[in-house]
Amino acid sequence: MLDKEKVLTILKDVNFPGFTRDIVSFGIIKNVDFIENKTLIYIELPKEDEEVAKKIAVAINNAFSREGFDLPEFEFSVFKKANGQSPPDNSQNIKLPKIDKYLAVASGKGGVGKSTVAINLAIAFSKKIKNIGLMDADIWGPSIPMMCGINTKPMATKDEKIIPIEKFNIKMMSIGFLLGEEDTVIWRGPMVHGAIKQFIEDVEWEGVDNLVVDLPPGTGDAHLSLIQTVPLSGGVIVTTPQDVALLDVKRGIQMFKKLDVPVLGIVENMSYLQDGDKIIDIFGRGGGKAIAEKFSVPFLGEIPIDPEIRKGGDSGQPIVYSNPESETSKAFTKIAETILENL
Ligand SMILES: Nc1ncnc2c1ncn2[C@@H]1O[C@H](COP(=O)(O)OP(=O)(O)OP(=O)(O)O)[C@@H](O)[C@H]1O
Ligand SMILES: [Mg+2]
Repeated sequence: MLDKEKVLTILKDVNFPGFTRDIVSFGIIKNVDFIENKTLIYIELPKEDEEVAKKIAVAINNAFSREGFDLPEFEFSVFKKANGQSPPDNSQNIKLPKIDKYLAVASGKGGVGKSTVAINLAIAFSKKIKNIGLMDADIWGPSIPMMCGINTKPMATKDEKIIPIEKFNIKMMSIGFLLGEEDTVIWRGPMVHGAIKQFIEDVEWEGVDNLVVDLPPGTGDAHLSLIQTVPLSGGVIVTTPQDVALLDVKRGIQMFKKLDVPVLGIVENMSYLQDGDKIIDIFGRGGGKAIAEKFSVPFLGEIPIDPEIRKGGDSGQPIVYSNPESETSKAFTKIAETILENL
């Protein structure tokens, strides 16, 4: 027998088209109702998009059949403000702090090591230039708090701006600093826009000249809306060498191009495994370089699979900080140097 809770559990297995996050945590499920033995799902999209609506309906139908339930019916609506207008485009009236350069780290796919690259690059930058900041824009799955071992909450200035938390000589902000470990946030489409705007406007970035932005995985519409608010100076795309991941790189490049943000290059993470002098090529090393050539964007370098990276990520000690002389840290440092030269 289906009840609302069961329906939501099924919907949590359905990802928003083009994203690795599910439609429930995206906040687009407005209501679930049952009328004359039919399940009715109310879905609110951030904007009119028939293609997306169709994809969502098909994915939900598939999930329902997998579970052996009758197919539901849908009612789609588009987010509207109370007065009937579409949500405002905040990118025009955002009050920007005096940050010189914004550098985004993106990936088409989740779990390729974007946050790992963002934090280790930020630490490598901070050894070369002063005043580095790190903004965890992954509002759906912030990982900077854990990776940096931060479990304190930020303080506020007298005029109620949030003071970033400083660690490894970097000023950092993450939605995770403000939430408990068990909390989940449900973001409705237009709120996503507002969240990042607040991260820029309501955080005291005074003293930060260069801000590294760790983006959520994916390249869909919500990303466009999210990064439109930030005047990005360049984007780095992280990938693993496999073919599927490389397809996502293409989407990443297209996303930055759409926004007129220069692609600073591609980092191939989990490229190979080093065993003493032996290099073991697990996933097909070199794919990142090939795709960089294909799209005429710089190839920034390879990061090996290194158990020390994972351990460091879990224990809040990024490898470039805890073991700067390791081969892996040198690979990060070299990539950071190349980016600084190109910026
Ligand atoms: N080169 C590497 N060698 C070994 N482990 C790695 C490497 N890169 C990342 N990892 C580990 O893989 C996991 C995923 O990395 P990370 O969280 O940085 O990915 P992400 O792309 O930011 O993920 P998400 O899409 O969830 O934001 C982490 O446990 C991290 O420590
Ligand atoms: Mg991440």
